[in-house]
Amino acid sequence: MSFPIVRNRRLRGNAAIRNLVRENHVTVHDVVQPIFVTHGTNIKSEIASMPGVYHFSLDRVQEEIEEITKLGIQAILLFGVPDHKDAKGTSAFMNDGIVQQATRLIKELNPNLLIIADTCLCQFTDTGHCGVIHHHPVTGQADVANDASLELLVRTAVSQAKAGADIIAPSNMMDGYVHAIRSGLDEAGYENTPIMAYSVKYASAYYGPFRDAVDSTPQFGDRKTYQMDPANGREALREAESDVAEGADFLMVKPALAYMDIIRMLKDNFDLPVVAYNVSAEYSMIKAAAMQGWVNEEAIVMETMTSFKRAGADIILTYFAKDIARYLKK
Ligand code: PBG
Ligand code: ZN
Repeated sequence: MSFPIVRNRRLRGNAAIRNLVRENHVTVHDVVQPIFVTHGTNIKSEIASMPGVYHFSLDRVQEEIEEITKLGIQAILLFGVPDHKDAKGTSAFMNDGIVQQATRLIKELNPNLLIIADTCLCQFTDTGHCGVIHHHPVTGQADVANDASLELLVRTAVSQAKAGADIIAPSNMMDGYVHAIRSGLDEAGYENTPIMAYSVKYASAYYGPFRDAVDSTPQFGDRKTYQMDPANGREALREAESDVAEGADFLMVKPALAYMDIIRMLKDNFDLPVVAYNVSAEYSMIKAAAMQGWVNEEAIVMETMTSFKRAGADIILTYFAKDIARYLKK
């Protein structure tokens, strides 16, 4: 059958009919707000490359948690900026590390707000890499040591769970990280703490503003020996498969906007919840254009989020979460 019997415009004729046939929706329960905590007092300082996103010292975190809670957002992704860096990233797994302190505090402020702890070492190592460095025995080339880093990542995850983190989100891209962290959590009695695996994480220029924000730019080289090559799609299946086999509870794709094909691929091939991380430069690009008056911020944000849902995302980590909650309340 075809025109004039078929007229696709019939289902677009007015707002009510469009509402009736809409396939995808964004709700406040789909979005997670990342937050950055830091040492010091009375700090609420805007991140230069991420307008509208702030560092908070622990004594100022309450206002942010209250706002997030009032908006109906159920989950935050917690990042810490430490005051001490060393080769092993020791302050990532100290009992009184910035993330552990913030977790305990936020749990007191609102026990129902889900805290997702980013589990990595790059903010905490003096090299800015996501693990410890070893040198190739023959060439002398420096690289991140996989298995030696796992041990430190496990300690980090367990200390986060102990502080009260509800979900552990390892973003380090070491091989075997889900297995190692799952075993570590189970041994410590946290067998019910889910792992949100950054399964498919690309070596991306879209992390630029984030690295400014947490001062985690690698001091030498890049992250290409552990993060994925943006040219590769099928490799995402291998990364996700190994994480599923190792006990992951969520599968994440990061970045999101340029990787919608990968989001769809994971959705079609696995039955775990799919998470899209709408990363820092995806945020900053929209913000910058909106600040110039070149795009309609609300419209472009909601179109982008709806498209993540359409691509197959069940959950969206986004610096726009508070804005989205406000738009949805209107
Ligand atoms: C740490 C980590 C990064 C991001 C989240 N966790 C940066 C990186 O791998 O360099 C990026 C988040 C963003 O850009 O918003 N491994
Ligand atoms: Zn890292």
